[in-house]
Amino acid sequence: MRISDPRIVAKLAEIHVELRESTALAGLTSLGIGGTTDLLRIKSHESLPDLLNLLDANHVPHKFLGGGSNLLVGDGELPWVVLQLVRPEPDVVLDGNFAHVDAAADLGRMITFCAKNDLGGMEGLIGVPGTVGGALRMNAGAYGMQIGSYVREVKLYRAAGRKIEVLRGDQISFEYRHTSFAPDDMMLAVILELPSKPFKVILEGIRICNEKRRTSQPLGQKSAGCIFKNPPGASAGRMIDELGLKGLSVGDARVSDRHANFFVNAGRASAKDMLTLIADVRERVQRTYGVSLENEVVVWNA
Ligand code: EPU
Repeated sequence: MRISDPRIVAKLAEIHVELRESTALAGLTSLGIGGTTDLLRIKSHESLPDLLNLLDANHVPHKFLGGGSNLLVGDGELPWVVLQLVRPEPDVVLDGNFAHVDAAADLGRMITFCAKNDLGGMEGLIGVPGTVGGALRMNAGAYGMQIGSYVREVKLYRAAGRKIEVLRGDQISFEYRHTSFAPDDMMLAVILELPSKPFKVILEGIRICNEKRRTSQPLGQKSAGCIFKNPPGASAGRMIDELGLKGLSVGDARVSDRHANFFVNAGRASAKDMLTLIADVRERVQRTYGVSLENEVVVWNA
């Protein structure tokens, strides 16, 4: 979608929002898939209420983009603009056991920075690509831990009330790859309370998680992590593997040979290829196991 009205363009400049015209989202997602639209880069959280009012008043639909690492975006010209926070410097400030983190901070770099300051707990998430805001919104987890356990406070833009609010950790419910945030809430910043641990001990935990991930997941390839959530008491990856579906392809969209719940873009896969592959695998699992797999990957398809 193009913002062509010069009055909107002028107003964006006035509220310090950068307009990047016709941006290919394939370049902003870890799958390397996605069509084009105008990208609005937000330098100051405080401009959000004005920005959202401007977009609503002009009937410009929008979506919030984090790090693009758990996302499958449709092909072609997209029917909404995309909003993304610009990462401030510094993006993590420590105060005792509290880490004040901007939502645009890179998750892995945040974990490493805290580790160097003897704050641990998040070792399991090392190697998970994306921003802290994205991890927070969907309660990212791995190796027995989840980010929600460490959240003490969240600053967010709430579309419903059209304002920036602060929630305490106990006002938010964090479940398996799910939170009580509304779909149109935008994460802005978080305070994490992290346990003190010597850097060396955290580093050992990080090393173990990195090793496990390296041997079980296709890290060097373009993917969005796991495609499906694990159904209660079962493993989506194991079921897909047991059906012999590793290597199954639609165009360049392919079930990974390394981990069957990772679908990779092995070249120039389109969203259509990937969605067809997802539907095919879901149907085969349904037929054999009677289980309807739910997407873990977020799909933005027109
Ligand atoms: N398995 C197979 N074949 C495969 C893949 C897995 O047999 O192709 C078996 C494994 O041998 C193991 C079981 O299935 O016995 C579970 O596999 P794994 O330990 O790899 O964990 P997972 O349940 O597939 C989950 C998360 C990952 C996270 C890992 C490590 C989900 C959907 N996935 O994977 O998260 O990294 O545990 O904690 O919850 C993601 O969120 O995108 C993601 C990759």
